Amino acid sequence: MTRRVIFDTDPGQDDAIAILLALASPEEITVEAIVTVGGNVPVSLTAKNARKICELAGRPDIPVYAGCAGPMAARPLVTAEHVHGATGLNGPDLPEPQMPLQPQHGVDFLIDQLRAEKPGAITLCVLGPMTNIAMALVKAPDIGPRIREIVLMGGAYFEVGNITPTAEFNVYVDPSAAAIVLASGIPIVMMPLDVTHRVLTTPARLDAIRAVPTKAAQAAAAMLGFSEKFDLEKYGSDGAPLHDPCVTAYLLRPELFQGRHINVEIETASPLTLGMTVADYWGVTDRKPNALFMREVDAQGFYDLLTQRLARLT
Ligand code: RIB
Ligand code: CA
Repeated sequence: MTRRVIFDTDPGQDDAIAILLALASPEEITVEAIVTVGGNVPVSLTAKNARKICELAGRPDIPVYAGCAGPMAARPLVTAEHVHGATGLNGPDLPEPQMPLQPQHGVDFLIDQLRAEKPGAITLCVLGPMTNIAMALVKAPDIGPRIREIVLMGGAYFEVGNITPTAEFNVYVDPSAAAIVLASGIPIVMMPLDVTHRVLTTPARLDAIRAVPTKAAQAAAAMLGFSEKFDLEKYGSDGAPLHDPCVTAYLLRPELFQGRHINVEIETASPLTLGMTVADYWGVTDRKPNALFMREVDAQGFYDLLTQRLARLT
């Protein structure tokens, strides 16, 4: 039985690879739609990049929507061109998309689609700031119980922050949205920096992807070769962390990951620690667990899966 998913995403090279991995796995995952959000780059670019990725995978049939341009609370959009480049998808030279952008706003699409589906039919794969999901839940609270599960990349606890000393980027861009999603009662699987920083694209792993003679694999290698620069310089590690594809890999092979069902809250007020993920990993409070917080991963198993699946695309 395939898992029917909607991606909510801010591509972003790592978002792109997460989507390619899903599109290369039709026996396990059906990608019903892609909703984009302002994050790594403005939503006009994430909406264009999502269509470039669909066309790279030979799937111009997948409906792509533009969602929210910025966070719920009145604060400017924080972007990450310093990591992803001015286009958000620097690295490969992908053609301008020919497929159209859907006219409906992404938030309204999420509400309509979830109301039209049987409860539990759809899994949300959330790879960027959670603004669209939170806005949909605020506008239409009835859709929460209809969502099977949210698998998201975001947050950090032991690993601390990557955009501020205490906050991970997706949560930092829209902390209020992350707080709403975590308080929703929807089953959540969280891929924080604690686990994605154990998934490192070492030179050997990048070479293995480069050795795959498909357009998609070559583009993925070019994406990784671009976006790794910032993290390699910052962390000085043997490879750059690969964040968003952990979400898709979990749907394909959950046994690659280990974590703990704990309470996770978000700092939404303090100027010093805004967007901090307060994870009660040791159970020192009586706060109700609300997320499966992943911390361990079989990194080589992840890369073997990713490389093998990229070879399936053209
Ligand atoms: O902190 C990493 C996250 O921020 C990833 O989703 C990356 O694409 C950026 O959105
Ligand atoms: Ca992302």
